[in-house]
Amino acid sequence: MCGIVGYIGKKEKKNIILNGLKELEYRGYDSAGMAIIIGNEMSYYKAVGKLENLANKMKECQYHGDGVAIGHTRWATHGKPTEINAHPHLGEYSFVIHNGIIENYKELKDELEASGVKFLSQTDTEVIVHLFEEYNKNAKTPFEAYKKTISRLKGAYATLLVTKAAPDEIFFAKNAAPLIIARDGDEIYLSSSDSPLIGLAKEAIYLEDGSYGVAKLGNLTIFDENNQEIKPNFTELPKDKGYALKDGYRFFMEKEIYEQSQVIAECLMGRLSDDDLNLDIDISLFNDIDEVVLCACGTSYHAALAASYLLERLAKIRANVVVASEFRYKEPFLNPNSLFIVISQSGETADTLEALKIAKNANLKTLAICNVDNSSIVRMAKEVLLTRAGIEKGVASTKAFATQMICLWMLSLKLAKIRHTIDDKTLENEIKTLRNIPSVVNFDKSLQEKIYRKAKHYVHGHGFFFIGRDIFYPLALEGALKLKEISYLHAEGYPAGEMKHGPIALADEGLYTIALLPQTILYDKTKSNVEELAARDAFITTISPLEFELSDDFIKINSHSHPMSEFFEIMVVLQLFALEISIRLGNDVDMPRNLAKSVTVE
Ligand code: G6P
Repeated sequence: MCGIVGYIGKKEKKNIILNGLKELEYRGYDSAGMAIIIGNEMSYYKAVGKLENLANKMKECQYHGDGVAIGHTRWATHGKPTEINAHPHLGEYSFVIHNGIIENYKELKDELEASGVKFLSQTDTEVIVHLFEEYNKNAKTPFEAYKKTISRLKGAYATLLVTKAAPDEIFFAKNAAPLIIARDGDEIYLSSSDSPLIGLAKEAIYLEDGSYGVAKLGNLTIFDENNQEIKPNFTELPKDKGYALKDGYRFFMEKEIYEQSQVIAECLMGRLSDDDLNLDIDISLFNDIDEVVLCACGTSYHAALAASYLLERLAKIRANVVVASEFRYKEPFLNPNSLFIVISQSGETADTLEALKIAKNANLKTLAICNVDNSSIVRMAKEVLLTRAGIEKGVASTKAFATQMICLWMLSLKLAKIRHTIDDKTLENEIKTLRNIPSVVNFDKSLQEKIYRKAKHYVHGHGFFFIGRDIFYPLALEGALKLKEISYLHAEGYPAGEMKHGPIALADEGLYTIALLPQTILYDKTKSNVEELAARDAFITTISPLEFELSDDFIKINSHSHPMSEFFEIMVVLQLFALEISIRLGNDVDMPRNLAKSVTVE
């Protein structure tokens, strides 16, 4: 996810911005840039790839004296990671940087182009700077123009704008993306996270959604979402950088579980209207197909498996799922009318990449669902749907899985609409449910505390069976994978109905059964499978909105009317369950033994 740094003061600016951006590297990025205004002099630099590339371009420069500077690391979401798409974006006399997604950028861009504005980049961000300069033609002050600009934006943004029209000021705004302002005497620092600020300043303001304002040497004016000026409320900055990098969480995995609401919102942004989906995919990809093949590894494979239920149910199309390492060598029969979908967080998994090559060489239509733009898989696939989860650090995948599921659900709905297999009312309801998922995965700290307390019971025992039916079967597989990855305890996922065909032989009081018991799909069927296990003295843990009298342990979820809402809430419970058991065991949660985040070898 993008990173933002800003500075107002007399110190040398290039190094302040570069050092700040370096602290934000952990968020992931594919290009970087900065803009500096000192008096009448405006300069800007951009580079693709690592920060060193930007630093090299600026090797000879130094920027001393009173002035302003802004810098940005970009994680591509709209438009490729190129120099032109890197921030800052420029108008005639202003620069903007932005983290988030401007949901209504198309509408704003059309409006600006109609009045003669030329756009250079493919980004959503560029509308901000042009809108500002358009409004500034008639505004009383540049800040008035900025205020008007911000009032037109829909979506998520943390954004900074500098302009020759007000050369000693930085305009800023924040909505659903973090922005922090710190001060050291008269000097002001801005950033999208604590870590660049630690050591430079002692106190900071964590801006609220909807706030915006203007910063100047020794002066800070902030307005809230109702355009009321508010008194800056500074709090002490944390002192520990490691802590700051993880936004105060102990582990990246923990932080990433909490981030899911935000990244799902970003994943949905600009892609939904009330009765349709805009996935920015050439829809000729869907012409004349009679099958979808989904291919992936690990967690991404579980997303593929869950998606096969959605595709068949909603779009009435055959959906085959295959593990990439198996697909490569099985001499697969390739139906020329199939759409080949690869799913990968990293975009670099060797087996998935090879499978994609085979499909491409056979002239199949290909689509990648991926988190990393410009990765090998993204470059190779014909069409791409980016998951927008931001960098995922924890080896055990969480937010990447969540956004893969959202993309695959959206894709199933789009296909259903194109194939006329869904009626308008159902589609509208699905879209409404999708929009609500960010709040479904938003959970209270008390849930984590509750699971932490329960976790102590699970650190002994000889194994875990996670069981579920329908889409909750792949989710059971994923729950078991999370647990084994980070706790090193033996865990398997099974279709609930399959237990009696062998695995039930293992049932005794030392075997933990984690039963996914949603209310909306096959409740009674799954319940009787659990009863069979309870009758053999297995320890039963149920995750369900409904109390189940035979449970030895019970984690209650909210009641939902849609299975996907239950899916996402149970997903969070399973992630926390694995996390808390791993913590209890004293394991390295983020870097479990023997595992790699990106597996680029066979
Ligand atoms: C590794 C990771 C898993 C991941 C799998 C597939 O095994 O540890 O978390 O699910 O690779 O990775 P991909 O990047 O292709 O989704």
